[in-house]
Amino acid sequence: MAIDIRVRPERPERSAPTAGPAGPARSGRVRGLRLLWRSSIGKKAVMAVTGLIMVAFLLVHMLGNLKIFFGPHDFDGYAAWLRTIGEPVLHGAWFLWILRAVLLVALVAHVTCAAQLSRRDLAARPVRYAHGQRARASFATRTMRWGGVILGLFLVWHLLDLTAGVTNPDFDKGGPYHNVVVDFQVWWINVIYIVGLLMVGLHINHGFWSATRTLGLRPRHGRDTALRITGSVLAAVITLGFLAVPIGVMTGLVR
Ligand code: HEM
Repeated sequence: MAIDIRVRPERPERSAPTAGPAGPARSGRVRGLRLLWRSSIGKKAVMAVTGLIMVAFLLVHMLGNLKIFFGPHDFDGYAAWLRTIGEPVLHGAWFLWILRAVLLVALVAHVTCAAQLSRRDLAARPVRYAHGQRARASFATRTMRWGGVILGLFLVWHLLDLTAGVTNPDFDKGGPYHNVVVDFQVWWINVIYIVGLLMVGLHINHGFWSATRTLGLRPRHGRDTALRITGSVLAAVITLGFLAVPIGVMTGLVR
């Protein structure tokens, strides 16, 4: 699939700030960062880095989830360990809260940049065809936009379900194994997860390749194909790894 490399019109730059007490070098750096943030390539870079941070989290989360196949002792023990990583250097669940803060900042930055780039994209294509339709974004771009929205909704559902327990059929605060098993005994909860997980896969499949290009890994002698394959393999491993859990419960392997 071809990537859209048309240059987007940038917002007009505001007047440069005057040099503060720290001197012109610092003000130049701040101005450079501001310019980068306002540019489309800067926003794409933020999306690439934050996307890769979230993919790393998903890979670790998926691997951790597979402990469910070793029984409640292993799975619940792993969930409890997550709350004490870093002890005794860090206190209690500090590490978990730092991780949550990093993920939240990454998610907010990713979504903000995506929304701003979409707005720019639409504003840069005001030409309408005779039948009244706007010039259409590429299939990949539209899939990323709608997939991203569905993913966001899935994440809200997932946190209400397994972290807050609000939508879980029989939530036990200290029993993640039990919470997961009761979840996947309900057919429509399985449907929500399967749709959400397929969206995760689609998003990573295109997003990984797109991120590596933004970060400067330009195609050279089959490198583009290698990056596409890497993205697809990563997407398949993460999606299938996550899907193994509902499938395990549905087939009675996990009970
Ligand atoms: C079958 C698929 C999945 C299962 C069984 C699962 C399981 C769980 C469980 C049990 C927890 C709660 C851990 C605890 O509080 O002890 C959790 C938390 C979480 N999951 Fe998932 N998960 C799945 C897929 C996903 C996906 C696809 C995403 C991201 C799109 C995701 C993101 C999160 C996040 C952000 C948390 C909160 C971590 C925290 O702050 O404690 N999960 N998951």
